[in-house]
Amino acid sequence: MFKEGDWVLIVYKDEKRYLRRLESKGSINVKKEVLKFSEVIGKEEGFKKGNFSIFRPTLEDIILYGFKRKTQIIYPKDTFFIAFKLDIREGSKVFEFGTGSGCTTVVLSRLAGSKGEIYSFESSPEFYKNAKTNMETFGLGKNVKLFNKDFLEADLEENSFDAGFVDVKEPWLYLEKIHRVLKKGRPAGFLLPTTNQISVLLKEMKGFSNIEVLEIMIRYYKTVPERIRPEDTMIGHTGYLIFGRKI
Ligand SMILES: C[S@@+](CC[C@H](N)C(=O)[O-])C[C@H]1O[C@@H](n2cnc3c(N)ncnc32)[C@H](O)[C@@H]1O
Repeated sequence: MFKEGDWVLIVYKDEKRYLRRLESKGSINVKKEVLKFSEVIGKEEGFKKGNFSIFRPTLEDIILYGFKRKTQIIYPKDTFFIAFKLDIREGSKVFEFGTGSGCTTVVLSRLAGSKGEIYSFESSPEFYKNAKTNMETFGLGKNVKLFNKDFLEADLEENSFDAGFVDVKEPWLYLEKIHRVLKKGRPAGFLLPTTNQISVLLKEMKGFSNIEVLEIMIRYYKTVPERIRPEDTMIGHTGYLIFGRKI
């Protein structure tokens, strides 16, 4: 049953989605239709009232509609794929930098589970604080060690990580350390927004093999049975993904 203080996903006509915290005096007003939160408290997940449906939010909902974005983020379409590509599983020890808004961190964290460890580095105090608040607000990232530190300044054990992920502008500057702290054979992943950055990175990835470059495109469709067709607008580009395994 929903109770006061729970975070919920409110879906209006399958068109609009909102993440809200249930407070008995709260309400939401969409196109002049009002849903009072007092009507939701005590109901089961999947409760429907008028054009509103109410659910517990998934990790994707929290990232898309709940997390405060103070940096560019990586979208779930990419992060969920990244996490599988990096072979993150229960108990994995993973490093990541920069944390940014924490949108990648929580996906790595989810797959690594309670026995896993995510070491995440963010050099900016402002972004570090925001990522920390994002995770705490939604009770996420219990297995995350979040550092307000440049990755290069981190004191990390050699050959100790099962995987690493890098989302900074010039990842080639960090390759020597990335290679040093990864276990042999294990994967590193990178996100880069432009192809000229990929060229520089590839030239420097001498300590890696099984290298792949790809991008993920996603196209949503209208859900009206009589006129199934793609949505009018789509996100044309987010970033390129580069993966390699330490040799
Ligand atoms: C694009 S954001 C990362 C977004 C993140 N992947 C997400 O999905 O929320 C890049 C971040 O890297 C941080 N950064 C840049 N160089 C860094 C370094 N050497 N060590 C740690 N953080 C760094 C920046 O401050 C910035 O917040």
